[in-house]
Amino acid sequence: MKTLIVYFSYSNNTKNLVTQLNKEFNFDVVRVERKIAYSDDYDICAYVEAKEEVEKKIHPQIKKLDVDYSAYDRILLFFPIWWYTIPMPIASFIDSIKGFSGEIVVFANSYTNDPLLQRCIIVVCKSTHLERIKENFDVFDFILSEEDMQVIKSLDQQNSLFFNHQDPKMVEWFDEMVMVRRNKM
Ligand SMILES: Cc1cc2nc3c(=O)[nH]c(=O)nc-3n(C[C@H](O)[C@H](O)[C@H](O)COP(=O)(O)O)c2cc1C
Repeated sequence: MKTLIVYFSYSNNTKNLVTQLNKEFNFDVVRVERKIAYSDDYDICAYVEAKEEVEKKIHPQIKKLDVDYSAYDRILLFFPIWWYTIPMPIASFIDSIKGFSGEIVVFANSYTNDPLLQRCIIVVCKSTHLERIKENFDVFDFILSEEDMQVIKSLDQQNSLFFNHQDPKMVEWFDEMVMVRRNKM
């Protein structure tokens, strides 16, 4: 069975996830990108561009992908959750593969806080918007199944994708960054 990974990622969490997973499988990979890129400014992207697209169900134009889909039996589709649903460029991608007769398996990058909270690990979410802060706290109205918890737990490779917390230089860097920020206040 020939498999293609298709993903969308704004801040590269999904990209890192795909890269990590694909070390084992080495499937072909393509990235869905909006023809007119979203703003680099998170707030503009999230609260203006993406929000409007989701609310009005706009399927934006995406960059053409040079892929012969008939050569694949299966597409693994990865994306982050945007405003409780799929990012609209993924909707555009789905429109673009209407004739695809193979299997499509969807992986949504969600449950951002909950599996950690369920393991009693407190997550501090960055936000300066009251509405978003409230949403970030609103994670106690459902419980993940034990099976889901085990699957998610098995993804933990005991290795941060971002920082080596065992490296004294990294700890010093954090410390310095905090001091610099404090002095600015
Ligand atoms: C426009 C936008 C909307 C989002 N909406 C949600 C949401 O509804 N639920 C959620 O859990 N996370 C939401 N997030 C957070 C992302 O899903 C999360 O940060 C994800 O890991 C980002 O993946 P990426 O780095 O591949 O873009 C949103 C992020 C953005 C930019």
